[in-house]
Amino acid sequence: MTSDQDYIELFEHYKPVCIDLGPGILTDLSAEFLLSDEKPVVTFVTGGNSLAKSGARADMTNIVLHYEFESRLVEGIPAEPDMDDVARIIEALEQSKCSEVVAIGGGSVIDAAKAAWAAYQTGLDVSELFGSGKITEKFPGKEFKRIIAVPTTAGTGSEVTPYSNIVDRAAGVKRLIADKQIVPRMALIDPYYGRSMPDSLTAATALDALTHNIESLLNIHAPETEAATNRNAVFAVRLIKDNLPLAFRDPNDVYVRENLCAAATIGGMQIADRPTSLPHLGSFSFYGQVPHGIAASMLLPPFWRYYLTEKAVAERTMLLADIFPSKTKQKTPEAVVDAAAAFIAKYAGAPKLSALPCFDAAMVDRIASDAVKNPMKLASAPRPVAPENAAEIISGILKKEL
Ligand SMILES: [Fe+2]
Repeated sequence: MTSDQDYIELFEHYKPVCIDLGPGILTDLSAEFLLSDEKPVVTFVTGGNSLAKSGARADMTNIVLHYEFESRLVEGIPAEPDMDDVARIIEALEQSKCSEVVAIGGGSVIDAAKAAWAAYQTGLDVSELFGSGKITEKFPGKEFKRIIAVPTTAGTGSEVTPYSNIVDRAAGVKRLIADKQIVPRMALIDPYYGRSMPDSLTAATALDALTHNIESLLNIHAPETEAATNRNAVFAVRLIKDNLPLAFRDPNDVYVRENLCAAATIGGMQIADRPTSLPHLGSFSFYGQVPHGIAASMLLPPFWRYYLTEKAVAERTMLLADIFPSKTKQKTPEAVVDAAAAFIAKYAGAPKLSALPCFDAAMVDRIASDAVKNPMKLASAPRPVAPENAAEIISGILKKEL
C-alpha cells in the first residue's frame, strides 16, 4: 500500500470479516437486518456516557425507531470487563431470545459481547471458554453466529480479531479467549465517533494499535498471510505516526480519525494471524491501574531490545527505519527502537516506564510471575523464553527500567 486510502481495497478483500469504513456507516445495519429471513431480535451492547457524546447512540436509536425491529439495550459495560459484566449480557440475551448482537463501543464492549454471545449460544460457562480454541474443540464442524462490531475508538482492532480479554477477579488476572468462532462477522467503522475522545484516550488507543502492528511485524515465527504482511504492518505504523500528532492538533479532523481507525483495524488483522507476545503479556498485569494501550506500548521498547539478538527481528526492525523522528538517520535497529520509544513516551505522557504510577519492584515481580502462567505466549516470543527461565529473564529486562 502506498497511499492512505489504499486500505479500502485491503478491507474489501478481507474474507473473515465484512469491513465497512466511512462516515454514517451504521446505516448498513438496517440493510443487514432487512435482508435477513426472519425479523431479528437485536441486543445492543454498549459502554458508558461516551456513547452519547460520540453520536453513536443517536444513530443507533434512529435505526431502531425507523426500522422497528425488536431490540434490547445492555448499557454500562466498563473498560476491562469482568465475568459479572459478561453474565449481565448473557442474562439479557436469555430474556430476549436474542438473534443478533451488535456491540457498539471500545474494545472492552466488543470483547464482552463476543464472550457473552459465545457462552449463550454454546451453553458453556464463560470460564470454560478461556484458552485457545475451546469452542472449536468442543463443537467440531459447527459454525456459531457471530456478532456485528461497531468500534467507537481506534485501538484494539477487536472488530476483526478472534480474541476477547475478560478479567477473572477471583483469580486476580485478565484472561484470554482465542477462537475463530468469536471473530465478528461484520465491522462497521465510523470515524466520526472518534472525534469526541479526549486526547488521553486517543493516545492510549492509537498506541495500542501501534503496538499490535509492531509486535505482529516482529513475530518472526508466524508466517505472513494475505492480510498480515510486513508491508501492511509498516504502512499502519506510518499511519499512526503521521496521524496521532494531527489528531492532537485537531480532534475533529475526520480524515485523520479515519486513518487512525484504519491503522487500528489493520493492527487487528495483523494480530489475528501473527499474535502479540511479551509486551502485551506484560501489559495484562497492569489492568485496573494503567490504560492497556499505555502499558503495552511502554513495555514494547525494553522487550524489543531484548529480541534484537535475533537476526530476523533486527532485519524487520530496519523496515521501520526513519519512520519515527530522530536527530540522525537511523542506521541500526537500536536507533530505530530508540526513535519509536521516544514517540511512544511523548504520547503516553510518561518519559520512561518508571514514570508510570504503579511501575515498581513489586510490579516487576508480578509481571514476571503472571507471565510464567502463559507458556504459549512465552514460546511464541520472537526470542523464545523457556518457562523455567521466564521469571528471571523478564525480571532482568524490566529491572533495568526501574
Ligand atoms: Fe492491545
